[in-house]
Amino acid sequence: MAIQKVGVVGCGLMGSGIAQVSAQAGFQTVVREVSGELVEKGLKGIEKNLARLVEKGSLTEAAKGEIQGRLKGTTSLEGLKDCDVIVEAIIEQLPAKRELFSALDAICGPNTIFASNTSSLTITEIAAATKRPQRFVGLHFFNPVPVMKLVEVVRTIATDPGIYEEMVGFGAKLGKTPVRAQDGGGFIVNRLLVPYLLDSIRALEEGVGSVLDIDNSMKLGCGYPMGPFTLLDFVGLDTTYYISQIMFDEFKEKRFAAPPLLKRMVLAGWHGKKSGRGFYDYSDPNNPKPMQL
Ligand code: CAA
Repeated sequence: MAIQKVGVVGCGLMGSGIAQVSAQAGFQTVVREVSGELVEKGLKGIEKNLARLVEKGSLTEAAKGEIQGRLKGTTSLEGLKDCDVIVEAIIEQLPAKRELFSALDAICGPNTIFASNTSSLTITEIAAATKRPQRFVGLHFFNPVPVMKLVEVVRTIATDPGIYEEMVGFGAKLGKTPVRAQDGGGFIVNRLLVPYLLDSIRALEEGVGSVLDIDNSMKLGCGYPMGPFTLLDFVGLDTTYYISQIMFDEFKEKRFAAPPLLKRMVLAGWHGKKSGRGFYDYSDPNNPKPMQL
């Protein structure tokens, strides 16, 4: 089956990035949000990103127009019914994802392939809400989606091998390097990344070093593009907390358990860069101030 039309559910940080790379790769793309306001906000964000590429000279104004011409917004799930692939990027909560896919299963034709961008939930459990688990994969992108070159393509024990290979090829057509992963908690990246991020918080709690010194250590000592606390604030402390709970639930291992400090910061509403405060205070966005413990 030749994939021509792609649906994306959710036009937040991840969904808008996925919609952008899909339209840039030449696919007709429909992105669905729950309100007209959110559709507009998502499409405006994409427009801004494309305009930046034009400014930098890596995209022509004409190509920008063509990409935007391939991109449509909708507030109804019916608007996705003739898509060949639908990628879901909504809130990281199992009931919401199951409910969405169950509804899409009733609306879409039998050939539509479903994919979830979940970073930590079990694909098998989401797919089980549909009558097409053989046409269901994980497609896990990374933030910021237009920049990060990886997509994890996740198969379950029920995924049809032919569909799986088609989705690996689809990941490559989106301009990403696809890696094959099994449906195990956190797949490849978060299985390794989450314990590292949580350990950084534990090191801070234990007074091993300050926020800035731990960040500088990993950035300058190991060549990571961001230190762990900058990355935690970037990913979102609420998101990291969610992921760690799901992974702890799956493995029952201490390395996936959320440190008390992370829990308290989330409870206090310090969700990282998006809320203006996390391990850094972003009151002055050009000069984030590290938290002092
Ligand atoms: N959207 C689109 N483009 C963006 C962008 C965004 N949000 N942020 C940065 N860019 C682009 C810039 O325009 C710039 O492009 P050019 O090279 O063409 O000029 C390029 O990215 C580099 O940006 P900057 O020079 O401004 O800044 P930088 O060199 O520090 O790079 C970064 C920014 C790419 C985000 C880099 O810091 C980085 O790689 N950080 C680590 C990000 C990471 O680890 N992401 C994965 C998080 S884990 C996850 O997402 C999964 C999960 O399940 C939790």
